[in-house]
Amino acid sequence: MFKFTTASKNLLVRSFSSSVSAQGAKVAVLGAAGGIGQPLSMLLKLNPLVGDLNLYDIANAPGVASDLSHINTSSTVRGFSTEEQGLSKALEGRDVVVIPAGVPRKPGMTRDDLFGMNAKIAMDLSIACAEVCPKASILIISNPVNSLLPLAAQVFKNKGVFDPKKMIGITTLDLVRASRFAFEKTGKVQFIPVIGGHAGTTIVPLYSQCSSLKLSPEDLAALVHRTQFGGDEVVQAKAGKGSATLSMAYAGARLVDSVVRASQGEDVVECGFVANDTYASEGVDYFAGILRLGKEGVSEILPLPENITQLEKDAIKAALPQLASAAKKGIDFVTNN
Ligand code: NAD
Ligand code: LMR
Repeated sequence: MFKFTTASKNLLVRSFSSSVSAQGAKVAVLGAAGGIGQPLSMLLKLNPLVGDLNLYDIANAPGVASDLSHINTSSTVRGFSTEEQGLSKALEGRDVVVIPAGVPRKPGMTRDDLFGMNAKIAMDLSIACAEVCPKASILIISNPVNSLLPLAAQVFKNKGVFDPKKMIGITTLDLVRASRFAFEKTGKVQFIPVIGGHAGTTIVPLYSQCSSLKLSPEDLAALVHRTQFGGDEVVQAKAGKGSATLSMAYAGARLVDSVVRASQGEDVVECGFVANDTYASEGVDYFAGILRLGKEGVSEILPLPENITQLEKDAIKAALPQLASAAKKGIDFVTNN
């Protein structure tokens, strides 16, 4: 039988006693019953900075919400289905909306192959966000991020409510991977910026910023390749049963936590795929940069470190045309639908 140890009593007290959580951030997860949505929602239920969690999915969100609502942290959790304006109700009053709704890859597919299935989902959810909670931070997980973030931004632009500070395509999993893979070489956990986009060679890890990493050119190339294709590694290992879910839930929960902490005045640096005019002269309007987060979302896109290597500069240059065409695909979808 379960016995209360001192540690578990402390956990119980901590779970109920945070005054922040009583009035904490109001978050919605759209696609909350999926492979990412469920563990992400659980991590958000455990975050004392999240006070109120709304879960929406086309299937089973009320069930997931009921389950999570028994966890003895002080936040409230409610589930919403497609019936009776469920989506609008789920979005009411939200500070942050996280979107993992959509189909994941199977072996042999690229993220871009998901566009045909996920663009309509992203568009419908973006329209609802623009109408119900236009001032919320919108954090997009669904793939292909390189097209769906520009798509969602275009929906907001058409409705006259786009705020580039408030919409981020989540690339945090690339940073988590870069940090972990470098740790395997150095034994140190470090923040390694990853910029560009979230697909194959558009993912540009800046290992030059990891001073303790000393690798031969061949080993560095292998590390960069593993970071760019880490998603494929998981897709192949899951052999047709989806893509990264648990590590993505961790990464998504980290970005929500960062956005909320920044909204409360903390100075936080993350990377993310945002509207960004750094490469506008080359026709690229969306680019994952190093972001300073503040009270109102992205407060600054930080300049790239001066000491990035020629290989990293070349990788950025090679990513630009891919990013431009991926963004165009998302924007054209909004224009044509
Ligand atoms: P999943 O199939 O397990 O879950 C998706 C969920 O979305 C399902 O519960 C489904 O019912 C729901 N859904 C579908 N249409 C919806 C709609 N219109 N409204 C609300 N919910 C809807 O998939 P998953 O493994 O959770 O992956 C979800 C997405 O995240 C995929 O597109 C995947 O490629 C992407 N992903 C992105 C990253 C990243 O780093 N950005 C990492 C991993 C996965
Ligand atoms: C990832 O990087 O793991 C995700 O984008 C999922 C995928 O399809 O690889």
